[in-house]
Amino acid sequence: MPKIRINNIELEAEEGESILSVAGKAGIFIPVLCHKEGVEHYTSCMVCMVKENKTNDFLPSCSSLALDGLDIDASGEDVISMRKKAVELLISEHRAECEAPCRIVCPAGYNIPLMNRLLASGEYRKAVDLIISELDAPEIRCKTCAGYCENACRRKKIDRQISIRNIRIFISQNLYYGGGPDHFIDQTEYRDLKNQFSSRPGKLDSNELQEWLKECTGTSMRFESIENFESAGEEARNCMHCDCRASEDCRLRDIAQAMGIKDKGRKVVNMPVTKKINHKTGLIFEHAKCIKCGLCVRVCEDSGNEPALCFINRGFISVISEPLTMEFDDILATQTDTCINICPTGALSRFK
Ligand code: SF4
Ligand code: SF4
Ligand code: SF4
Ligand code: FES
Repeated sequence: MPKIRINNIELEAEEGESILSVAGKAGIFIPVLCHKEGVEHYTSCMVCMVKENKTNDFLPSCSSLALDGLDIDASGEDVISMRKKAVELLISEHRAECEAPCRIVCPAGYNIPLMNRLLASGEYRKAVDLIISELDAPEIRCKTCAGYCENACRRKKIDRQISIRNIRIFISQNLYYGGGPDHFIDQTEYRDLKNQFSSRPGKLDSNELQEWLKECTGTSMRFESIENFESAGEEARNCMHCDCRASEDCRLRDIAQAMGIKDKGRKVVNMPVTKKINHKTGLIFEHAKCIKCGLCVRVCEDSGNEPALCFINRGFISVISEPLTMEFDDILATQTDTCINICPTGALSRFK
């Protein structure tokens, strides 16, 4: 059995075992992004770096074998700094946002995109319950607010901002719609957005902005003044789902937060931002959120079901895609959930 040292602890490894695995069994935490137990992967993120003390070489622990005699530093300053650089590199081309612009600037942190989605899908009572759950004073703050949300609304860059204030004020005057609260929406675990890592998309050009219109479910009828729930719902259908579907469950976001990374929004532009929607399965792919870990490609390969996701192009412009001769609508009839679940970011998710 190979004997190795990790953080000055003598450990025994199985033949063919990775450094990551040996460290994990000894309770030594090493972060990972592109690694998933049981799935062969591309060793792409470098977030799991460790240092070999005798050679001073940095190694990706997820795919480096625990060879006899290795002396590994898994938690030192150099190692932490190397991991941080790896995450910063990923963020530097991550032209995506965790939270919607309207919510980020709202002094109360109201979950405006969720409210709009509930209204857009006709779940009016749930939208009311959401607003009740966010109340921290007898009245919603929108009545006296200058409307920062509308000023920041991305839709304004295309035509006109969503009538967020009027929608919220209308709802606050109709809290007994449908007979009273019947859905409990837990907003108690409010994210402290100001202190939470939030990726920023950087500058978006006018063609890229058009991609967000794919998120709208409406007939594009617009209502500035809101007099009933139907007009609120119609206006809300023009909201473009700017928040990330993975905002509550993203390994990249969690790791960036744990490392104290701040995104200043200066992004490397390799490709234009696009959104692809599979209208048969409801899969949405946002390549700007993809870290090219290849896990989705591997699970598709392992399943043997085709046509599936694959890599196209090379180098910085390589991207996850349908095979070149296929349409996005024609892929992943059976692997949609597996791919969504294994994706460590919000690049693959369900359109809803
Ligand atoms: S994929 Fe993760 S880091 Fe990127 S925008 Fe979504 S939640 Fe934020
Ligand atoms: S389009 Fe919707 S989610 Fe985006 S900023 Fe405007 S209200 Fe918020
Ligand atoms: S879509 Fe998700 S799982 Fe697939 S390569 Fe990109 S980040 Fe990885
Ligand atoms: S987790 Fe090891 S290289 Fe990504």
